[in-house]
Amino acid sequence: MQTDSTKPKAYLALVKTFCAQLGAIHVDKLEQKWIAISLAVVALFVGIITLDALFHGINPPSKVETINSASLHLSKEFAEDNLGVHLEDGKVVVRMVAGRYSFFPKHIDVPAETPLTFRWVSMDVLHGVHIPMTNMSTMIVPGYVAEITTIFPKPGEYPLLCNEYCGLGHNHMWSNISVIAKEDWQAPGKLTATGEQQ
Ligand code: CUA
Repeated sequence: MQTDSTKPKAYLALVKTFCAQLGAIHVDKLEQKWIAISLAVVALFVGIITLDALFHGINPPSKVETINSASLHLSKEFAEDNLGVHLEDGKVVVRMVAGRYSFFPKHIDVPAETPLTFRWVSMDVLHGVHIPMTNMSTMIVPGYVAEITTIFPKPGEYPLLCNEYCGLGHNHMWSNISVIAKEDWQAPGKLTATGEQQ
C-alpha cells in the first residue's frame, strides 16, 4: 500500500512515462501541420478575447454586489420611481429591472458618445441583456446587480434582447432603446445642450 509521501513520486513517474510515450509516437508531417494550424486558431481567438478585454471593455462584470430580488420594489435604488435614466454627479446612470417577460422601464432614451453606467437587476429568474452592434451583453443573475459602463457611439434605435432562456415567453422578452445625438439629448430637467450639469 502507498503512503501519502510516495504518492507524488508515483504520479511523477506516471507523467514521465506518459511524456516518454508521447515523444515516441509517430506523427505524420501533414498531421503536424494541422495540429499547428489548430493551435494557431486557438491562439488567435485567445488573442482576440484578450485584446477585447483590454481595449474594448468587453469582460465579465467583476463587481459582486448583492440585492434581494424579492423586494426590489421596496429597495431605494430599484423602486419603480427610480428606474430609467438619471444624471448623478455628472454621470448618466441607467437602472433597469428584468422580469418575465419584459425590461422595465419599457423604453429609454440615452445620449450617444457619453459614458453610460447601466445597473441591471432581475426580479425573478436568470435573464440576459444583449444590445446588438454594441458591447452591451451581460447576464442578469437574480440576487446580484450587474453593472456595466459603456458608450454608444452612434445614434439610432437599438433592440434590447433577453439572451438567457427564462421561460416560455423568452422569445418575446425584448424592448427598444433610443440612442439620441448627444446635443439633442436632455436628462430629466438637468442637462444643458453641451452635456454639462447645471
Ligand atoms: Cu428573459 Cu429570456
